[in-house]
Amino acid sequence: MPQTERPVTKNTRSFNLRVFGCQMNVYDGELISASFLKRGWQASNDSTSADVVLFHTCSVREQAEERVHGLLGELRRRKKADPDVVIGVIGCMADREGQELFEREPHVDIVCGSRHFPQLPDMVERVMGGEERICELGESPNPVDEPERNLTGFPGGYQAHVAVMRGCDLNCTYCIVPSVRGRVESRPAAEIVAEVARLVEHGVTEVHLLGQTIDSYGRDLPRDGRPDLALLLDELERIDRLKRIRLVTLHPSYVDQRLAAAMARSSKFMRLLPVPMQSGSDRVLKKMKRGYNTDLYRKRIDLLRSAMPDLELVSDWIVGFPGESDEDFEDTMQALEEHSFLQSYVFQYSPRPGTVAYGTKDDVPKKVKADRNHRMLDLQRRIARERTPRLVGQQDSIMLESRPERSPGKWLGRTRNGHYALLDEQPGLASGREVAVDLVAYNGRELVAELRGQLEPVASFGRQEFHV
Ligand code: SAH
Ligand code: SF4
Ligand code: F3S
Repeated sequence: MPQTERPVTKNTRSFNLRVFGCQMNVYDGELISASFLKRGWQASNDSTSADVVLFHTCSVREQAEERVHGLLGELRRRKKADPDVVIGVIGCMADREGQELFEREPHVDIVCGSRHFPQLPDMVERVMGGEERICELGESPNPVDEPERNLTGFPGGYQAHVAVMRGCDLNCTYCIVPSVRGRVESRPAAEIVAEVARLVEHGVTEVHLLGQTIDSYGRDLPRDGRPDLALLLDELERIDRLKRIRLVTLHPSYVDQRLAAAMARSSKFMRLLPVPMQSGSDRVLKKMKRGYNTDLYRKRIDLLRSAMPDLELVSDWIVGFPGESDEDFEDTMQALEEHSFLQSYVFQYSPRPGTVAYGTKDDVPKKVKADRNHRMLDLQRRIARERTPRLVGQQDSIMLESRPERSPGKWLGRTRNGHYALLDEQPGLASGREVAVDLVAYNGRELVAELRGQLEPVASFGRQEFHV
């Protein structure tokens, strides 16, 4: 539901929320906004005038934290001039730095961990009422997700995030996430399905289901009758006007035949799947404690691809992990080529205090990390340029996203397996609408699509009003 713009009156208190990090943080940001909006607060995008300034933070790499420290530094002057402004740090940085953050940043009033943000409006009101600085960290007796999500914080549009599980039970040696986000907590399947159905009522046609190891969904619940991701896909199949389901992120260890079959029979599952490999060197994977080697990874990918030959894969990679030699890196390049990913996110290793790898010397020079980063991205671009034209001549459906400025008179959409395609503008097209097309050419960047058959009337794909 779009947030209605209400005029800021003297009596309306306003909050400014800035979100950093992963899609889970974006989702949490919507929940946080809802918790303020439903109490009559006004959202503001101006940190220089809002009554409350909140940072929803990320700790995954040092850079992410440095940015927030920089922005917090800029707020020091404002706090001096206006001591009533309430400043809060929420999420992963709060969990990682905890009390230390108070010491470093004396103008921060609230430090609130990932499991406590539903209580944020209370905390803010307590501080406004004269209470000293507040720090809430660690586990919480209350689940973060309410059985029925309040949708006032949902910004609208055809895409929506839905958390299906929180936390991570693995222990990759470089990663801060398990220590800041805590152990896995899966949400009940009925709650997730109901949330998606309500979003669809608000015009959503594409949902992104979120979890750090989403294919392990349900494993923390009592064994008897517990749900899994395959069951969730089957349940969501029944929501008619939902067109696409994206899954973020899979871990190779949990991929099995049952899940691959459920993906293959789902008409909505988007066949663009993040299964991060991180490295193509067995030596490095072992040091990362990823729980698989290149051979097992290959087996899991084979399983997925034999169920869905048109599946496209996305991977995250870390370059410059301690001890990564030139040879290890060449193995990674080879793995990228072998599995022929459509997209890659490449990160330069960043030592995170508190992780196992932090105890090992960060011995790959910055320049080498940067060079490996560039080389991987170059290779990835070349591979993607080779994969996309293969779709020319096929029939497909595309989900319309936007009208890009650089291609006047065209709509940009994505095929079911994530390739971009351009379609001539015509009456009845709208973002969030899925249309049947012929893929007739490749322009060196995107596919060129032509509409196939008649467009169905607008009312059949969502309640939202679309304007052409
Ligand atoms: N749960 C997901 C990833 C979550 S973190 C998975 O297991 O794949 C997102 C990405 O950040 C990771 O995939 C990894 O590539 C990167 N990352 C995590 N810790 C990092 C670190 N210390 N330095 C650099 N990149 C890191
Ligand atoms: Fe981090 Fe590994 Fe968990 Fe992903 S699976 S969040 S990389 S510990
Ligand atoms: Fe960052 Fe926390 Fe997400 S560390 S990647 S915001 S879970």
